[in-house]
Amino acid sequence: MRRVVFKYPSLKIEGNDLYILDQKELPQRIVYKKIKGIDDACEAIVSLRVRGAPLIGIFALHFLKTRINKSKEEIFEMIERLKNTRPTAYNLFNYLERFSLKLNLEGKREAEFFIERTIAEEENNSFLMAENGLKLLKENSTILTQCNTGYLAAPYAGTALSIIHHAHINGYKIRVYVPEVRPLMQGARLTAFELVSQGIEHTVIVDSAISTVMEEVDYILVGADRIAKNGDSANKIGTRNMAIIARYFNKPFYVVAPTSTIDRSLKHGADIKIEVRGREELAYCGEKKVIPDKSNVLNPAFDVTPFKLITGIITEKGVFYNNGSDFSF
Ligand code: MRU
Repeated sequence: MRRVVFKYPSLKIEGNDLYILDQKELPQRIVYKKIKGIDDACEAIVSLRVRGAPLIGIFALHFLKTRINKSKEEIFEMIERLKNTRPTAYNLFNYLERFSLKLNLEGKREAEFFIERTIAEEENNSFLMAENGLKLLKENSTILTQCNTGYLAAPYAGTALSIIHHAHINGYKIRVYVPEVRPLMQGARLTAFELVSQGIEHTVIVDSAISTVMEEVDYILVGADRIAKNGDSANKIGTRNMAIIARYFNKPFYVVAPTSTIDRSLKHGADIKIEVRGREELAYCGEKKVIPDKSNVLNPAFDVTPFKLITGIITEKGVFYNNGSDFSF
């Protein structure tokens, strides 16, 4: 299978300096922002300059690597700060916990090796997810996706979008429906940007048009921010609506995620902490206020799709199917 080459890496390392492709500026401007310290690193995660479950975690590891010469105490303080940025995506916690253990028990050198290994593994996992996903796809198909799950959200080519990128480069004839994803437009701004940059045919729709296009759709491929032991999967808000509609139209609904997104300590999705974000993200469309000041606003960033609505979970280790009972990871 041919590999994909991307024009705009989401992270850049120059010497001991870490830069992010500032996703808040996309698609209008390509801006690489230097991360000058822990305040910058946390701000970048909270304000979604860098985002997507695996990428947030990998970004944190890259950042810690640039600070490996600090005292252990300072490094642990930074780890605590990073853990307090966004609560839902599991990869951040998974990597930081394993990194902390290495640092504590085996020292800085081993902790640094852990970072290098994890980054390389997750890059390869992105390729393997694509390989496993492509085996399921017809060569001529229409795919519906959600949010942004590509190279802007995870190492190498991403998760769900990794399948789409590899389908394209390997000669599949695919069309992609891209919901805009309110309130922050990660679909319209970021997925559309990625697909344009790779020359992949796609159509952006408003979130409420999902049932309108569903009859044309062959596969739904979405990512996950945290997957509970039974397979219940948290992902960008609106994913559960999509799964419910997919079930009505009898369409295959696949979650695509590396196994590092599976949190085996949580029995089911009800235990997943859902990030609730600020009112201003909904109240404004660009510069323009669109909600009266006196209206209440609720802005959960994620929802949980119950395992019963998931046809299969595509990981680097293979595809896990829902055969009536839960996934039992
Ligand atoms: O709030 P975001 O933009 O970080 O949300 C990202 C998503 O929900 C992705 O679909 C998810 O991280 C999984 S794929 C990388």
